[in-house]
Amino acid sequence: MVRVGVIGVGYWGPNLVRNLAGTDGVELVAVADRDEKKTAAVVRRFPTIRPLVEGADIIADTSVDAVVIVTSAESHYAIARQALEAGKHVLVEKPLTLDPDEGARLVELAAKRKRTLMVGHTFEYNPAVRRLREITGREDFGKILYIYSTRVNLGIFRPGINAMWNLAPHDVSIVNYITGESPMAVRAVGESFIKPGIEDVVFLYFEYPSGVAAHVHVSWLDPSKVRRVTAVGEKKMAVYDDLDSEQRLKIYDRGLESTLFEEGGITDYQVKLRAGDILSPKIANTEPLRLECAHFIDCVR
Ligand SMILES: NC(=O)c1ccc[n+]([C@@H]2O[C@H](COP(=O)([O-])OP(=O)(O)OC[C@H]3O[C@@H](n4cnc5c(N)ncnc54)[C@H](O)[C@@H]3O)[C@@H](O)[C@H]2O)c1
Repeated sequence: MVRVGVIGVGYWGPNLVRNLAGTDGVELVAVADRDEKKTAAVVRRFPTIRPLVEGADIIADTSVDAVVIVTSAESHYAIARQALEAGKHVLVEKPLTLDPDEGARLVELAAKRKRTLMVGHTFEYNPAVRRLREITGREDFGKILYIYSTRVNLGIFRPGINAMWNLAPHDVSIVNYITGESPMAVRAVGESFIKPGIEDVVFLYFEYPSGVAAHVHVSWLDPSKVRRVTAVGEKKMAVYDDLDSEQRLKIYDRGLESTLFEEGGITDYQVKLRAGDILSPKIANTEPLRLECAHFIDCVR
């Protein structure tokens, strides 16, 4: 059994608690939150879990093998560092840290201590995203030309970090996962409309080594909720709409084909539209967090 403690059971933490409780080989030992009402709610549902207050209380427990950090982004670095220094395996919610140097330091520390350090990039465990990767990787999809992702809504405004740090880790992880690459160039532009210095809307542009271009639009100042990723290939196109429970993934057998022609000494391209079937494959209903927790425990083992 891997003995696990969860730090932070605000909005998202209880989902990790529920999934860890249902993961084979996990003994959920304790949860910690500075808000005792939050830990009390967890214990009502899982009476064998010990409620604690400070994350440090879980880290100090020598019987705990692994720590899951679900606190606000600003606190991830300090808590994760403390946990790794105490020899714990760590699963930390996205974003790993708000400073790339701090992220690199954690990776180094985990390697030195021979401990697992994993970031909760939930969408890598999402069956629709996994299917999207499989389909866009096939020869009949053609080379991926570009991908764009939209993650917007009205709220939830977070006072400490901007919309990019809060939302875009999902999109970046999805695009990296689909392409199997990391971007070599990144541009990001944002605007702060609600509170100075906190960008509510951010547009990001990525260039990948293979030539794939990606665009991400995140915002918590938008009239309606959109969670959509579009991938355009040389032969087919795909749309993953997380809010469409009936047809979460659609594959369009569509494209533009150009052929070079010469007539009367003039050379030009003739562009033909190809509009074929739209296919919506069946997507398994497995909860991504369940797969993520199982993967973490596997890595720890
Ligand atoms: N993967 C996803 O889809 C997803 C979804 C939502 C949130 N998140 C991530 O989860 C993390 C938490 O988000 P949230 O919305 O649950 O935030 P939240 O503010 O609702 O909850 C955080 C909790 O941590 C507690 N806390 C903070 N520091 C602590 C410490 N040192 N010791 C004990 N308790 C402490 C707070 O009291 C609070 O209850 C963030 O990193 C966020 O990005 C991920």
